[in-house]
Amino acid sequence: MTDEADDAQIGLTGRPPRHIPEPQPLTSHGPAVVISMCNQKGGVGKTTSTINLGAALAEYGRRVLLVDLDPQGALSAGLGVPHYELTSTVHNLMVEPRVSIDEVLINTRVKNLDLVPSNIDLSAAEIQLVNEVGREQTLARALHPVVDRYDYILIDCQPSLGLLTVNALACSDAVIIPTECEYFSLRGLALLTDTVDKVRDRLNPRLAINGILITRFDTRTVNAREVMARVLERFGDLVFDTVITRTVRFPETSVAGEPITTWAPKSTGAQAYRSLAREVIDRFGK
Ligand SMILES: Nc1ncnc2c1ncn2[C@@H]1O[C@H](COP(=O)(O)OP(=O)(O)OP(=O)(O)O)[C@@H](O)[C@H]1O
Ligand SMILES: [Mg+2]
Repeated sequence: MTDEADDAQIGLTGRPPRHIPEPQPLTSHGPAVVISMCNQKGGVGKTTSTINLGAALAEYGRRVLLVDLDPQGALSAGLGVPHYELTSTVHNLMVEPRVSIDEVLINTRVKNLDLVPSNIDLSAAEIQLVNEVGREQTLARALHPVVDRYDYILIDCQPSLGLLTVNALACSDAVIIPTECEYFSLRGLALLTDTVDKVRDRLNPRLAINGILITRFDTRTVNAREVMARVLERFGDLVFDTVITRTVRFPETSVAGEPITTWAPKSTGAQAYRSLAREVIDRFGK
């Protein structure tokens, strides 16, 4: 099911797009592929991509858990969850060993899509965990009981490379890096890949960068095209063929509190995240 909108999103890299088959329904579920959506640069589309990739995977019948690991709680808010009122969040899960993930997990309005929410309480976690033994593996321990229930667990990281992000990387199979095409982004990517290398060497040998996602792409600027060429040169096949272009529909969905796939199912943005979901399913084989 490829339509013109998909072709437009895919053709933007200028490369011949890889052939991606239509995803087959799954007959059984789990264990999950755990993916950190990570970039220490702020406002590059991490949260938007977590929500909408998650919702698109869920549309394809995959069971998806989204983990909000940012004290700002934008992922929770973007799914219409009144996160500031919650008394059980990912913070309790990480600092209170007796709290189980089932006490914290929420079913969203989207079928197959669950959420571990967050709010400002999480901002204390980095300090609270600092003297704990195995502090980098706190999230891994918390998520362990549900890994077999889901096909994908997507973790929305905050814009920093601190202990919370290291916790996300320590329990992930893969990192997807959403990035804008601006010159400053390139230096940030080098720092991020260094951090991923360190976590792989010291904590989690299975960790791999499994995708660079170009987001908020402005087709009209020459600068964006030049930076895209540099990103393609540096990361080659790791760059997804799907490019997410800039559109006001995304800020609208944050206000609506739902993914673009349900808010504006036929929009170019919804088609783009479905196209990304097909690439992800193809890359991870499930
Ligand atoms: N493709 C897009 N086109 C236009 N606006 C977008 C697009 N993707 C995201 N945005 C908007 O850009 C802003 C930042 O996006 P988002 O919150 O997803 O980034 P982030 O990387 O999670 O930010 P932070 O680092 O603060 O967590 C939001 O207002 C969002 O609605
Ligand atoms: Mg965010």
